[in-house]
Amino acid sequence: MKDTVLEAYREAGRVASRILREGTAMVRVDGSILSVVEAVEARVREEGAGLAFPLNLSLNEDAAHDTATPGDPRVFRKGDMVKMDLGVQLDGYIADTAATVDLGDNPRLVEASREALEAAIARVRPGVTTGELGAVIQGEIEGRGFRPVANLTGHGLDRYRIHGPPTIPNIAIQGGAVVQEGMAFAIEPFASTGTGMVSDAPRIQIFQQIAEKPVRLPAAREILARVKDRNGLPFARRWLDGPRVEIGLATLVRASILHAYPVLHDTPGSLVSQAEHTLIVTADGALVTTR
Ligand code: CO
Repeated sequence: MKDTVLEAYREAGRVASRILREGTAMVRVDGSILSVVEAVEARVREEGAGLAFPLNLSLNEDAAHDTATPGDPRVFRKGDMVKMDLGVQLDGYIADTAATVDLGDNPRLVEASREALEAAIARVRPGVTTGELGAVIQGEIEGRGFRPVANLTGHGLDRYRIHGPPTIPNIAIQGGAVVQEGMAFAIEPFASTGTGMVSDAPRIQIFQQIAEKPVRLPAAREILARVKDRNGLPFARRWLDGPRVEIGLATLVRASILHAYPVLHDTPGSLVSQAEHTLIVTADGALVTTR
């Protein structure tokens, strides 16, 4: 990895780490979800960095891919298990990091994903397989009486690309990719009191452009113009405005120009925690950029 690339990853990581800490400290019972999301996203811009994706803020059985809606009236409530997942990019180099705030009384669940993450990071070095990392994560979470979310994974990072190889499973799998020096990836264990399998919820707030194709509908063209500077990175419905956003989004999804990211949830009434760091594999271990 070139020095300039490494430095961009490290600086993105420092910014993300600092702002995630500030953001999680803003989460309190009766506080506005929209205010927290907007404040965190504004802080990233203030630091001269970009958002690799909209701030993900997912509650309780929702594991990932939720964020505030436009004018979101929701407030945090006592008992909420709040996952905050932040992606910062500098020149396209991404830091992806997440933490859980427990507004109830489930410290073991929060600990499970956090300790699984730490144990997996401690195991990273060239030659280890992603299957072995998954086994470590599964062991830490199941050892505390919870289920790892089997169909959510950590992921390789590349310039302007959030989800590349390798995939880092949260459960033991046979084989998997062999970790190599210079790889950049995020590890993100999720621990659940539910089934450990997430499925699509009806709610969709996050989208990503996946193709360049001509489209005639003005409302759709306006959205594409508005998100051009995302360089293919995800964006939130909340970032768009105008009366014709819904028809524009629907048209673009139908034309396979946009990919929609539904909220991913476990069973109703369950609770999910998450922890995530980004790291770069070194000759004898890992440099965690988001500490
Ligand atoms: Co991630």
